[in-house]
Amino acid sequence: MKLIESKQIRSTYSALARRYGDIFHLSALGQHTVVINTLEVAEELFSRRSHIYSDRIENPMLNLMGWGRTAAVFLPYGEIWRAHRRLFQQGFSTSVIRTSCHHILSEKIHRFLCNLLDDPEDFLHHVELMLGAVVLKYVYGRDIDVSAREDVLFSAATRSARAAGEAVMPGRWLVNSLPALQFLPEWFPGCYFRSVAREVKECVKQIIDGGYEEALRCMETDSFVKTLEATKTRHDTGQIARKVCGTAYAAAAETSRTTLATFFLLMREHPEVQRRAQQEMTEVIGANRLPDFSDRAALPYVQAVYLEVMRWMPALPFAVPHTTSEDDVYMGYYIPKGSMVIGNIWAMLNDENKYPDPRAFKPERFLTPEGKLLAKDTDINSILAYGFGRRLCPGRHFADAFVWHVMASVLAGFNIGSSKENDSQGKDGLEDVFNEGLVSHTAPFECSIAPRTLEVADLIRNQIL
Ligand code: HEM
Repeated sequence: MKLIESKQIRSTYSALARRYGDIFHLSALGQHTVVINTLEVAEELFSRRSHIYSDRIENPMLNLMGWGRTAAVFLPYGEIWRAHRRLFQQGFSTSVIRTSCHHILSEKIHRFLCNLLDDPEDFLHHVELMLGAVVLKYVYGRDIDVSAREDVLFSAATRSARAAGEAVMPGRWLVNSLPALQFLPEWFPGCYFRSVAREVKECVKQIIDGGYEEALRCMETDSFVKTLEATKTRHDTGQIARKVCGTAYAAAAETSRTTLATFFLLMREHPEVQRRAQQEMTEVIGANRLPDFSDRAALPYVQAVYLEVMRWMPALPFAVPHTTSEDDVYMGYYIPKGSMVIGNIWAMLNDENKYPDPRAFKPERFLTPEGKLLAKDTDINSILAYGFGRRLCPGRHFADAFVWHVMASVLAGFNIGSSKENDSQGKDGLEDVFNEGLVSHTAPFECSIAPRTLEVADLIRNQIL
């Protein structure tokens, strides 16, 4: 019972944005959807009127999957959601990331670089395993063997995160428009959605309970679970903590994977960008070590590469739809309570006036002619790919540190090119690699990845952390 293919959503909304401008309204089966296409309107509604524009819509498919009352992402605006956000703040603030997470990132990224040396063709798989290794270690204190092909928790998180992403796209599942369908039995014709939901629910249960239980059994290891247990109040049953941990894993998985896959794809097509980033690193840190967090401020071009990857293909091109909790009027438009309000990040990041020639990949657009970062782009909160207002991604400091460090390390260590003479889709066809769901997921693609020099390969293998 699919209404529209998710593949069409980005192109459909882009065409409507071009035709109707800053903001437009759609209505289907009594559901009002407002799409915001400029940063100015987004700031007014999501930030200045955030008390009205921070709710989420009730989503029967997510409830059937077990996500609806579990993940902060989908919780209605209110006290329970606030309790989730507080725990995210406790575990994923800049200072906590610096003190408790940088060493985990360095260790797992180093392992990833070794995997790239040994088996470069499987780079996307190594990206996924690195992600799993980082988040599992930080949240649950659990080491996974990154040479293992499958990790049960990671597969469950990936499957359930992907399914959740689809479930919030308008029109993806008919049961969201006709909630009465959720009461029909699974065998009823057209109730395929129920078997999908049942399968996903198992995965959700696995990540929420499985990881936490395991962490409780080995409390001698440092982990976010250990911190949460130590600070738990008498009234807290630990349910929110479990959900926050499970959600962190699922929220990190798809978004970060997409961002890093986009990075590899764009580097494959842009050797000149790699050369300039590598030259900057050689000048700043020399050839005898790999970059680390302390080098970040001195590497503006590498930072510009990161910002341009986040702009060129935001992992969530429509963020996660917000909902109004009261009636509102904006510029003479009446926006009723319960309207779904979509921040069209894609349109904002392709605004010709702000990003001339927006589909071209040009890191230098974030730099002054002297090669310094533009002042407006130095704050992480200016990265639109992390969403809006009170629902702004609470994992952004973690993602920012992780994604930057991976990009800098790969650029320092490797050259990325096409695997065959004519393997490249050509710069114009690159977007075809991405599906157009809520999360811009990539299909598999090929790259040739080789160490820049024998010396750098040795440096990676012998790096002491
Ligand atoms: C490159 C990586 C990431 C990107 C691009 C990203 C992007 C986003 C976006 C666009 C939203 C929706 C904001 C809105 O509704 O306006 C969001 C929400 C969220 N993200 Fe992230 N995210 C990333 C990584 C992470 C990580 C690593 C975590 C966990 C530690 C995380 C946890 C969350 C949560 C819990 C929410 C829901 C917030 C709420 O509804 O209050 N994200 N993210």
